[in-house]
Amino acid sequence: MKTEILEARTDTAAGLANIERAAACIRAGGLVVFPTETVYGLGADGTRAETAEKIYKAKGRPSDNPLIIHIADPQDAALYAETNALYDRLAEAFMPGPLTVVMQAKDSVPMTTRGGLSTVAVRCPAHPVANLLIRKAGVCIAAPSANLSGKPSPTDAMQVAEDMTGRVDIILDDGSADFGLESTIVKIENEGSLTLLRPGRITPEELEAAAHVPLAISDAVTDRLKEGEAAPSPGMKYRHYAPAAPVTLLDGTVEQCIAYIGSIGEEKIGIIAYDDDVALYQSAFPNAKIYAFGKKEDELSQAHLLFALLRRADKDALVHIYAPLPRKSGIGLALYNRMIRAASHHILHL
Ligand code: TXA
Ligand code: MG
Repeated sequence: MKTEILEARTDTAAGLANIERAAACIRAGGLVVFPTETVYGLGADGTRAETAEKIYKAKGRPSDNPLIIHIADPQDAALYAETNALYDRLAEAFMPGPLTVVMQAKDSVPMTTRGGLSTVAVRCPAHPVANLLIRKAGVCIAAPSANLSGKPSPTDAMQVAEDMTGRVDIILDDGSADFGLESTIVKIENEGSLTLLRPGRITPEELEAAAHVPLAISDAVTDRLKEGEAAPSPGMKYRHYAPAAPVTLLDGTVEQCIAYIGSIGEEKIGIIAYDDDVALYQSAFPNAKIYAFGKKEDELSQAHLLFALLRRADKDALVHIYAPLPRKSGIGLALYNRMIRAASHHILHL
């Protein structure tokens, strides 16, 4: 398959024409990668089983791992899912935006799209290109992140092209994704119960304030699934984000981390370091690859950089990667959730 990379913008005639072409491609049953405010998505018509099959194939994803359907208007959720007053409060507070809500599905969403589940995940992206693409396509767009299964989600069109050239019809390029980690996912069990399945830009604190119901946090957000335990979200059971080299998360002061890494004495290591620690690591380990991760308190920068750094670290052919352990609150929880997966839960408290 020939893959076209098209510049997508809503403020130029050429950019708009490219979005029109991509929307026609979706209607014709094609595959279009598009930018969102979280990460790039690999989209197709969300109302047809055969287009969902094409997505699973292009991504190399097991077909029991369901797709999120993307809508242009929060009210359109009712076309595909059993919405309720709790959904309306979440939609009012956070949509369009980086929130995905899992609810009971309606028959309009094929079983293939929802991985055989009775529920469906719905998201209304705020990114102008994504939003216009869905509007012009005239159908909901089923889309997982646009990476090959197991790789970090792509945050710019170059990363998409690495994984998806020859596998999709069109890649819409709008530069670097704003947030850089995937959307927050919550599940509505009933009017009075909400569960966090995947942390993201919208934090647990913000969700509780808007939902007016208690928020349960699925154990799988921070812990390893127990042997034989069913995953509340199918994606949780698959290996994710892991670079080829083992990753260890270090919980300690920079001095403790330097002493520990020095005591191991490996060649070809990579260190993901807060900006203020970069110089210290460089002088302690002149042969190491040091990746600057933003300031310690600047979790938005870290979220923006994480997946690109993991991809870069993979290309640098390292034997071991060290990274700091994020905190478990606010946006830190989203970083924690992605980084413990990259590290296969390997955390060292120094
Ligand atoms: O930010 C995002 O959410 C991006 C952009 C493209 O919108 N999409 C994304 O999709 O991250 P994906 O497929 O890579 O991750 C969606 C996760 C998967 O782990 C999947 O298992 C879970 O959502 N999921 C989808 N439908 C579900 C359902 N009905 N119940 C529970 N989990 C579900
Ligand atoms: Mg994904």
